[in-house]
Amino acid sequence: METGSNSLPSPSCGDAAKRRVCYFYEPEVGNYYYGQGHPMKPHRIRMTHALLSNYGLLDSLEVIRPVPARERDLCRFHSDDYVAFLRGVTPETQHDHPKALRRYNVCDDCPVFEGLYAFCQTYAGASVGAAVKLNHGAHDIAINWAGGLHHAKRSGASGFCYVNDIVLAILELLKWHERVLYVDIDIHHGDGVEEAFYTTDRVMTASFHKFGDYFPGTGHRHDIGYGKGKYYAVNVPLQEGIDDESYHSLFKPIIGKVMEVFRPGAVVLQCGADSLSGDRLGCFNLSIKGHAECVRYMRSFNVPLMVLGGGGYTLRNVARCWCYETGVALGVEVDDKVPEHDYSGYFAPDYTLHVAPSNMENKNSRQSLDDIRTEILENLSRLQHAPSVQFQERPPDLMLDEVDENQEDGDERYSPNSDEEMDGPSPSS
Ligand code: CO
Repeated sequence: METGSNSLPSPSCGDAAKRRVCYFYEPEVGNYYYGQGHPMKPHRIRMTHALLSNYGLLDSLEVIRPVPARERDLCRFHSDDYVAFLRGVTPETQHDHPKALRRYNVCDDCPVFEGLYAFCQTYAGASVGAAVKLNHGAHDIAINWAGGLHHAKRSGASGFCYVNDIVLAILELLKWHERVLYVDIDIHHGDGVEEAFYTTDRVMTASFHKFGDYFPGTGHRHDIGYGKGKYYAVNVPLQEGIDDESYHSLFKPIIGKVMEVFRPGAVVLQCGADSLSGDRLGCFNLSIKGHAECVRYMRSFNVPLMVLGGGGYTLRNVARCWCYETGVALGVEVDDKVPEHDYSGYFAPDYTLHVAPSNMENKNSRQSLDDIRTEILENLSRLQHAPSVQFQERPPDLMLDEVDENQEDGDERYSPNSDEEMDGPSPSS
C-alpha cells in the first residue's frame, strides 16, 4: 500500500487541474418526509439536484443512482438488533413497541416516518458506493449530498440521524487505505463518527463545531482520542457568529498540519450546511464561499475525496451551498444568477446563489482562536511520524449490486424469537 512517493501532500499541486467527479443521487430521496414541523427535510437534496441540473453541472460528472445498502451492510457498524428494529418499525406499529422506541432513541427528534428504513438504505448505500468508487480509482471525488448523518450511534438514532453512513463509508475506504481522514464542518460536533474511531490511529477525525450549551454537547478541545487513538481525534470548539476569516484562521493551519503529519490515503469531508449564516438551527456566520473554501482546500491536496452533506435547515441556502460546492469539486465557478427552474421561487427576490452574511457579533475573540490553534497544532506535532500499519490480506469489496440476501436469510436471523434482547417489531417482509 502506498508504496509510491513519501512526499507530503501539498495544497499547491494541481489546484487548477480537473478532477474526475461522481455524484450519487436517488430521485426518490426528496419524497421522504420526517413529519410536519420537523426541520430536517430531504427535499433539500432534490432542490440541490435541480440547481445542479439547471446550471448544467450534471454534464461534467458521472451521475450514479445508489444501490440501497442491505441489512448486513448496515450491520458492519450498527448492532443487529437496532438494524432489525429500523427495518421492521412503521408509523402504524411503532406504538406497540414503546420500550424499543426509547431504547433506540427513535422518538422526538428522530421520528418513525413512512419509508424510514428505505431512506436509510438509500443514503447509506450512496456513501458506501462512493467509497467503492474512490477505492477503484476511477474518480478523484465522490459526492453524496444525502449522506453525512454524523450523529447516528451503533445502537441508536440521534440528531435526525438513524444510520451512520459516514462510518460505513470509512470502513469501506479502510479496506484500501491505511489511513483515512474525516473532516466535519457541520455546526454540530461529529460525535457518532468520532466515537466509532476514538481508539484507532487509522482514522483521524477533525470536527469544527459550536461548543457550549449546544447539541450534542460533546467535542471538547481536550477530547483527543484514547489508547492507540490518542491525538487522532481533533476537536475545534467555536462560539456563535464565527465569520469566514476567523474560521479559516483555524481550519487551514489545522487541516494543513493534519495532512502533513497524518498523510491520509483518502479524505471524507462532511459539509453540513447548518454552519452557514442564517441557518434555521445554526448560529455561525459563514458565507457560502467561506464554507466552500473548505471543499476547495481539501480538494487541493489531490487525495481521493468523498464529499457528503449533513445538517442544513434553511433549505434555499443548503441548495445554494451544495450546488456551489459541486462546482468547486469540478473546478467550475458557478454563476451567481440562479437559472429559472421548478424551485426558483425559493430564491426570490434576488435569485442569486450567494447571500451576504449577517452583522451578528462574532463571539470568537482573536485570543481564543489563537489559543485553540496553538494547542491543537502542539498536539498534532506529537504525530510528526505517521504510524505504519502492517497490512493483512485485503477484504473483498462490498458488492452492492449482488442479490439482496436479506430475502434469503434475514428473516430467520432477525426473528424476535432468536434474540432474547430484542423486543422490537418483527420484520414486516
Ligand atoms: Co448539524
